[in-house]
Amino acid sequence: MTKPDVLYVSKPNAEWWRTAVIYQIYPRSFADGNGDGMGDLQGVTARLESLQELGIDAIWFSPFFKSPQKDAGYDVSDYKDIDPLFGNLADFDALLTRAHSLGLRIIVDLVPNHTSDQHEWFQAALKAGKGSPERDMYIFREGRGLFKNKAPNNWPSVFGGSQWTRVIEPNGKKGQWYLHIFDSSQPDLNWKNPPVRDEFDNILRFWLDRGVDGFRIDVAHGMIKREGLPNTKQFSTEMGGVKSEGDMTIEELEVANPYWGQPEVHDINRRWRKIIDSYNDRAMAAEAWISGPLERMARWVRPDEYNQTFNFGYMFAGWTKAAQIKSIEDSFTAFGAVGAPSTWVLSNHDTIRHVTRYGMVGELPQGDGIGPDYEQPDEALGLRKGRANTAFMLGLPGGAYIYQGEELGLPEHTTLEGKYRQDPTYFRTKGKRVGRDGCRVPLPWEAGANQSNGFSSNGASWLPQPESYKSYSRDAQRGVAGSTLELYKQLLKVRKEQGLGGGDFRWAPELSDEQSLAFVNNGVAVVANFGPDAVILPAGELLVTTQHDLRVEGELQQDQVAWIKLS
Ligand code: GLC
Repeated sequence: MTKPDVLYVSKPNAEWWRTAVIYQIYPRSFADGNGDGMGDLQGVTARLESLQELGIDAIWFSPFFKSPQKDAGYDVSDYKDIDPLFGNLADFDALLTRAHSLGLRIIVDLVPNHTSDQHEWFQAALKAGKGSPERDMYIFREGRGLFKNKAPNNWPSVFGGSQWTRVIEPNGKKGQWYLHIFDSSQPDLNWKNPPVRDEFDNILRFWLDRGVDGFRIDVAHGMIKREGLPNTKQFSTEMGGVKSEGDMTIEELEVANPYWGQPEVHDINRRWRKIIDSYNDRAMAAEAWISGPLERMARWVRPDEYNQTFNFGYMFAGWTKAAQIKSIEDSFTAFGAVGAPSTWVLSNHDTIRHVTRYGMVGELPQGDGIGPDYEQPDEALGLRKGRANTAFMLGLPGGAYIYQGEELGLPEHTTLEGKYRQDPTYFRTKGKRVGRDGCRVPLPWEAGANQSNGFSSNGASWLPQPESYKSYSRDAQRGVAGSTLELYKQLLKVRKEQGLGGGDFRWAPELSDEQSLAFVNNGVAVVANFGPDAVILPAGELLVTTQHDLRVEGELQQDQVAWIKLS
């Protein structure tokens, strides 16, 4: 079968989220307004204009809710309040008003799979004892073995160790076990229990009534656990080996990982979409790490489910010609089949920054970072490839996410010492996996202003910046032709002017050769060169390029991208 020429056509007059570029703020590390070394809401408000200048459409905030901060705020103890580390509800309202007046929408991060162990529901569950309705808010089970001292099943925590922790019952004796996909401070809620669903309806409405434009839903694929909580399972290949996830059917994947992507979770998606749609112009995005064929992930964005789901397949596709072709084609085909745009993304707070990934050999999975004892990345190579991939990605129709700092070309902190590490992964694996702190380091704003390069007024910073961050500071790049900041600004401006987010897509083999790749979106050719030899650019107006100083007019060097308005 030959592929259709045009692989994707946007809906006319599409809703904002189908085309938006959404900027992720990690509140701890964006800007510190009160000098305690921890980013906060007032710090964000004071710096909002720089984001308007960047040219984004919306902001997604990682959690700032009340939390003991055992997993940097993904352990919420009160969903309807702000943690004092970040400010208070009045600070949030002021931020929202200011953002809206600058034309920026705000998305907040909802964490429904689990609460903090300090949440009043979990504290009540501990006190109420076995068989109580309070315990039924969570997933409590008896242990296995004569003394019930073995975890109820073999499920491994994402952060290392078991998913089960045993509690001390009100009578002072060891008792039941509770489930936590992540840290023991993050007990999983029982989403089969109606009161849990009702509570979250209220939480959604609380923020929607406050005026937020939508949600990013944390661990959206983990809320429903397979009936009976069976052990994880491996499948054999015909040759008798262990089947890899890539070779499993969707049904096998559901059995293999009994806590990821279970079919019943789609009922929750639909329930929430009704709430979202009962308000004007709101949207929700799923963080769903769904393995297997992309058709499985596309189920999350059927018309009555999520508006967006992060295209993690694209995130890890890699910067090669073959990988880009495959991931982009598969994405348009799978998401297009359910009427959804793709949501492109390359970096976030859980993964090694893409400019650093591209400076490394080999791939590293979610939950891991790079430590001082590891082989260190090639910073210049990574930056070159990372900028190229971003320029290629932002030319594609659909929504896109960028993670704070990538507009500065900021690398991962790859030599952070153990004494600074905070990610629970580091502790649960006894340092074997260093965890995600390296991508969460506070942003440099003014080069040399103080030790944190202006992140806070006095140089304080909850994680130290590496030496190199000074040269990446925003003020050192602002207005400097060819800087990564100016490149991002130009890409976002042209993307908007040319309507690329809401455009159409076709490959343009007539504009590329073996080592280059080109597509056309709304009459704009996006050309990338993957090979060592320079390629000749098509005729037309050069709108933007990663290669600031074209060494020979009309030629594109290796790992460079150009956008050209075809004449
Ligand atoms: C998501 C978050 C991650 C967090 C985990 C548990 O994957 O993005 O940061 O640790 O969920 O809430």
